[in-house]
Amino acid sequence: MYDESGSTGKVFPKPEISEVNFEDILQTNIYNVMLNRRSQRKFEEKQVEDWKMDIIFAAADTAPTAGGFQGFEIFYVKNRNTKEKLVEASNNQPYVNSPIVLVFCMNPERVKMKFPVEIIKKFSLQDATLAASYAQLAAHSLGLSSVWIGMIDETKVREAIKTDLVPSSILCIGYPRKILHPKPKRSLTDLIKTIE
Ligand SMILES: Cc1cc2nc3c(=O)[nH]c(=O)nc-3n(C[C@H](O)[C@H](O)[C@H](O)COP(=O)(O)O)c2cc1C
Repeated sequence: MYDESGSTGKVFPKPEISEVNFEDILQTNIYNVMLNRRSQRKFEEKQVEDWKMDIIFAAADTAPTAGGFQGFEIFYVKNRNTKEKLVEASNNQPYVNSPIVLVFCMNPERVKMKFPVEIIKKFSLQDATLAASYAQLAAHSLGLSSVWIGMIDETKVREAIKTDLVPSSILCIGYPRKILHPKPKRSLTDLIKTIE
């Protein structure tokens, strides 16, 4: 499982360390990435390195999926014209034309489980959403910023990327022009409804 030599060129997890210092967690851990993530709509015109994209894709690939069937696909849009079409398909949100544009689509055909079709669709929507979320967090851990685009015209997105699959979201990634502070969220007491 672990590629200690690094010779395969693949991204493998490092063995987990069971005893970690709390301060280390806050400086480097995913928890800090989560706390600091902020949607970004202004990107530098700077290319994102391929190795960072490899990590982002590998992170998406680790997301839990229904039955482990990975009922989603990622379209990595590099074509300028297609990016412009995606702007239009996103209610003309200009920042969709960003350095990195990933379209996450549901692929219920991959989910080989004997459940009603509505459940399978719901599974693939959750699969695609989780994968996008993992990719978003990975991007932030690499010093990149992103914005999740949910306001999409499904038909137009499908036409733009030439697929029959249903898109769930677009993730726009790039280097931030300015580091933004995270937005305040609601209090945990408001968020959590405890059922005793
Ligand atoms: C389901 C969903 C749909 C969203 N759609 C859009 C969108 O179409 N355009 C946009 O600019 N931001 C969109 N966002 C980003 C939210 O506006 C943003 O996450 C929210 O304001 C909270 O800010 P934060 O991400 O900085 O914490 C979407 C986020 C989610 C989760």
